[in-house]
Amino acid sequence: MRITVSRKAHFNAAHRLHNPELSLDENQETFGKCNNEYYHGHNYDLIVHVTGEVDPKTGYLIDMKVLRDHIKNEVEDYLDHKNLNIQVPEFSTLNPTAEHIAYVIWNRLTAVLPKELELKVTLYETPRNYVEYSGL
Ligand code: NI
Repeated sequence: MRITVSRKAHFNAAHRLHNPELSLDENQETFGKCNNEYYHGHNYDLIVHVTGEVDPKTGYLIDMKVLRDHIKNEVEDYLDHKNLNIQVPEFSTLNPTAEHIAYVIWNRLTAVLPKELELKVTLYETPRNYVEYSGL
């Protein structure tokens, strides 16, 4: 039986969206308030979706305690209360947009989850704006 299980998580982080190859005016035009040179924060909500075959022995797709621990170690401990531009190595060269944050989260979780499971992450930067990434 193929099924999807999901778990929610949350973290707060600061960022600045800025492309050094653009002029200050172009950055301001492109990124608006998110270009503020003194950074600003977002309350990110994350949903991690894992899809695959249920283990007939346990009836589980994945032990939720295991999934919880991976999310804590790879996402919450890594990103929560951080300045993404300054403190998270991936964003030294990658603009920390919601798209790129979802990409980084997906890569970190994929590295620790069982290979036979498919992963999709849904990341809310605001209650109305969210992005999804499934590695495709
Ligand atoms: Ni922002």
